[in-house]
Amino acid sequence: MPDQTGTAKLSFAGKELELPMYSPSVGPDVIDIGKLYAQAGVFTHDPGFTSTSSCESAITFIDGEEGELLYRGYPIEQLAEKSHYLEVCFLLLYGHLPTAEEAEAFEFRVTRHTMVHEQLLKFFSGYRRDAHPMATMVGVVGALSAFYHDSLDINDPWQREVAAIRMIAKVPTITAMAYKYSIGQPFVYPKNSLDYAANFLHMCFAVPAEDYEVNPILARAMDRIFTLHADHEQNASTSTVRLAGSSGANPFACVAAGIACLWGPAHGGANQACLEMLKEIGTVDRIPEFIARAKDKDDPFRLMGFGHRVYKNFDPRAKVMKESADEVLGLLGIENNPTLQVAKELERIALEDSYFVDKKLYPNVDFYSGIILEAMGFPTSMFTPIFALSRTVGWISQWKEMLSDPNQKIGRPRQLYTGETRRDYIDVEDR
Ligand code: ACO
Repeated sequence: MPDQTGTAKLSFAGKELELPMYSPSVGPDVIDIGKLYAQAGVFTHDPGFTSTSSCESAITFIDGEEGELLYRGYPIEQLAEKSHYLEVCFLLLYGHLPTAEEAEAFEFRVTRHTMVHEQLLKFFSGYRRDAHPMATMVGVVGALSAFYHDSLDINDPWQREVAAIRMIAKVPTITAMAYKYSIGQPFVYPKNSLDYAANFLHMCFAVPAEDYEVNPILARAMDRIFTLHADHEQNASTSTVRLAGSSGANPFACVAAGIACLWGPAHGGANQACLEMLKEIGTVDRIPEFIARAKDKDDPFRLMGFGHRVYKNFDPRAKVMKESADEVLGLLGIENNPTLQVAKELERIALEDSYFVDKKLYPNVDFYSGIILEAMGFPTSMFTPIFALSRTVGWISQWKEMLSDPNQKIGRPRQLYTGETRRDYIDVEDR
């Protein structure tokens, strides 16, 4: 913990309490309520953790008011432009940008772990052929724990390190396999002469019957999508990984838990839902109808790819993603793509509408990513698996950080119980 920087006073029911305060390197101060129950016999209540810091972390920082995202202090815009995904992985895991030698050694290690145990292939045939790739991923990533027993001892820093490298290397292979299985094509083995993003595209789109050359424009765009999704501090899936890991569960099972959480449409599933929504809108003249539905309290419809728990100004990832969509579609000669036209017009209209302006609802990272992924040839069902692949490094960096924290404890929230008080069992004939 950093040094105490202040004290908060709490008074209630005739009690006076002093609670320690800490200042982060940037961002709002925190009040430490860890001893509140022991000292005063009360809990705090914060469903959805809207005002609660759950851990100390030095990996990623978001300033939601300013629309800023920093990985280890470096702005996401600079990393998206100048860096590449594996360098970002190193940065997230170890805290600094690698030297040329460190980068080479890291890339060599990751590349040497891209294959999966041959027996793991059999897992896929247990799934129905039309299973959603996220369903297969939850199971198969969790199953890694049954194959790599030499990286399951979470108390051994070296084994934690090996598990991290394995995960970064093997999750793209599993994601591509999940895709191939869902379309009934044979699995394509990793090709280690290709870089990380190009290898993933090759595993997804190559077939044994033909030669396949990865388009460098698409590989660069893929790498940027990976970079933009690599980490996002204590979001729902990352908190899930931390919570699962806090009990001492093995890292592969923890990441499988993160994948499960990411799947929901309020989180990583929004990219699939967003593209489906843009297609359902179809033409710009139908936008007002959907805007009206999004504003209608009695209609559960929401503008997918809009709004964020933390960003209340703009999502810096969405800005980069929009530029990338323009660039990629332009280079592919499909800049008149109707979905992109609908997205741009929807964004323009929504950002002039007082409902969205007043509630500070802006496009998030998912608003434009689906358009690029579709242009690359991915079906919508692959959007969230690609997000999971990209976020694996964030999950595993946060998991490693948690386990090296001397203050780490099992996560165990309390509750505001509103159920029945004690009552006696009634025999069935008396009910
Ligand atoms: N469309 C219409 N109204 C919205 C939207 C939206 N996309 N998002 C929020 N609102 C409204 C809510 O109805 C609510 O209105 P009220 O105050 O009148 O009740 C208000 O804005 C605040 O919304 P909350 O749901 O309370 O905000 P929260 O921080 O809990 O939710 C979330 C954030 C889940 C991202 C939400 O904005 C949403 O559902 N967006 C659409 C799904 C999406 O794009 N998710 C991806 C998030 S980014 C990521 O995970 C990578």
